[in-house]
Amino acid sequence: PRHFAIVPAAGSGSRMGAEKPKQYLPLLGRPLIHHSLAVLCAAPEIDKVFVVLSVGDAEWARHDWSALGPKLVPLFCGGATRADSVLGGLRAIAGEAAQSDWVLVHDAARPCLAPWHIDKLVRELAHDEVGGLLAVPVADTLKQADGQRRVQRTVPRDSLWQAQTPQMFRYVMLRRALESAHGVTDEASAIEAAGLHPRLIEGDATNLKVTYPLDLHLAEWILQNRDK
Ligand code: C5P
Repeated sequence: PRHFAIVPAAGSGSRMGAEKPKQYLPLLGRPLIHHSLAVLCAAPEIDKVFVVLSVGDAEWARHDWSALGPKLVPLFCGGATRADSVLGGLRAIAGEAAQSDWVLVHDAARPCLAPWHIDKLVRELAHDEVGGLLAVPVADTLKQADGQRRVQRTVPRDSLWQAQTPQMFRYVMLRRALESAHGVTDEASAIEAAGLHPRLIEGDATNLKVTYPLDLHLAEWILQNRDK
């Protein structure tokens, strides 16, 4: 089977409080999204990288993506939610993807994706029936609160993981799952709603999601110190 990456990048990034959508914020002299797109395009396992942009995206054309080579394909078919954007991408590549091809969905907002994250995910899931995702064990003690922020209970954390991306599933399974699921915030939730059990592949905390301004500083530090 082949491996396609889909990168949903049609969000507005309102929690950052910035003028631009966060995928275009400058990070070490390049748009934030450029970093993970470059790693995906350079990965020998990956055949093509589809980036899903909003229909009216005027920013994409203002940057130079030529260094990423011919694997990169922009699709202007983003939807109202992240799941809709991914589904739009899946529908757009229907002519190209076979049912059993793998799709790796990666958040545009995770710029510190490293080659070894992709290697490990693809290698460990190659013969898996369902597919899975990168994740890290939860480190903090978790509290469940009521409406007044009074602790109701402490949630045992030993079996809890934080979901990251890429999330890797077969083309047809992922498309069917997303078409029937509603209100999911990641691909794995859609697969779970279909009664299946994605496998967790242990990643690491460097693959963070940029949500708040502090995350941009952390991402910059991680990228600058990676190859030392
Ligand atoms: O906002 P959040 O960090 O959860 O977004 C995760 C990813 O989903 C981002 O890469 C964002 O651009 C993308 N997204 C999208 N279409 C939307 C909303 C979010 O592609 N309608």
